[in-house]
Amino acid sequence: MSQPTLSRIPLLNLARQTAAIRPRLDAAVARVLDHGHYILGPEVVELEKRVAACCGTQFAVSCASGTDALLLPLMAYGAGPGHKVITSPFTFFATAGSISRLGAEPVFLDIDPEPSNLDPDHLERYLVACTAEEIRQIKAIIPIHLFGQCAQMDRIMDLSVRFDIPVIEDAAQAIGAEWNHKRAGSMGHCGAFSFFPSKNLGGAGDGGIITTNDTALADQLKLLRVHGGERRYYHRFVGINSRLDTLQAALLLAKFDFLDEWTRKRIDNAVFYSEQLGALGDARIKLPSIDPRGRHVFNQYTVRVPNRDDVKSALFEAGIASEVYYPVPLHLQECFAGLNYKVGDLPVSEAAAREVLSIPVDPELTAEERIRIVSSLAAAVA
Ligand SMILES: Cc1ncc(COP(=O)(O)O)c(C=O)c1O
Repeated sequence: MSQPTLSRIPLLNLARQTAAIRPRLDAAVARVLDHGHYILGPEVVELEKRVAACCGTQFAVSCASGTDALLLPLMAYGAGPGHKVITSPFTFFATAGSISRLGAEPVFLDIDPEPSNLDPDHLERYLVACTAEEIRQIKAIIPIHLFGQCAQMDRIMDLSVRFDIPVIEDAAQAIGAEWNHKRAGSMGHCGAFSFFPSKNLGGAGDGGIITTNDTALADQLKLLRVHGGERRYYHRFVGINSRLDTLQAALLLAKFDFLDEWTRKRIDNAVFYSEQLGALGDARIKLPSIDPRGRHVFNQYTVRVPNRDDVKSALFEAGIASEVYYPVPLHLQECFAGLNYKVGDLPVSEAAAREVLSIPVDPELTAEERIRIVSSLAAAVA
């Protein structure tokens, strides 16, 4: 008798999510088509209010992508040629790309072994070794809340105050995450979020938002996203065109009502994986470490395994998608060769890039799928 074929489990089942809330999404789109305010319409204003409330900040300024949510504050802080911006290299390209696009130089410091975020010890050592002039050249520090878990923001903010350098939280993957009961995006001078479809709150395309408690910064960001002008055709700054479409905002608002529930399901899936995989007692599977001082919102559930690429292939054979976030740390990217980093310079980031594998953790997973994922991963590693 032939075996029943098992369906494939994607890394993120957006089709299932869309189907579950389809009438609300359709109604949201229809409302925008009816009122026709496609640029910075009422849904954009409403979404900004809701994100600010969710993150515990006074303001949220939306823009066209998570990348621009990093770029715009860097523009506001005047980052450019001759300046440096500190970050860590185990992240999506946009973190450093936004720095380089302005002509400033990314300074890559290594991460904690786990969780994989900027190590405050490295940050302190770097800053202490700088001269006063070198400190003046540093325009910002960008810690990343990778995979949905906050960097050690209390220590990073102490250093920010001590050296008078603004902090832009790269919270692209971390809406709703917390550190010591403070929300991602509310601890630094500002926070950058992405609405890329794979994020915990994802649109039907690109989008981003910047949270802040700084009135002057919020005002400047609002100008910079519309070519730097308060009045049409009068320009105070050289800005860019980076607005969140009203249609996107309407879809995101419709999804916003589910964000808490989706986040709880992600956390529940992650707890299940950690319990089940932990119970296997297979030392080759290293589970993500979860800092009890924070709330991890699991945009990704990322294990570390030896022979990672073989494990990924075996999972694929078993019908389970997985992904490597990220295979090449940014200090070793071809486009940054001119910065003269070499293999071995940032060993913790390089080891992470060799070993990490993210498995499906999205809220749409069924109980059967979770079980299949655990047993397939165990078999793949064995
Ligand atoms: C850590 C990080 N920073 C920045 C970004 C950029 O966001 P976007 O893709 O919306 O431009 C992303 C999104 O992929 C990200 O994961």
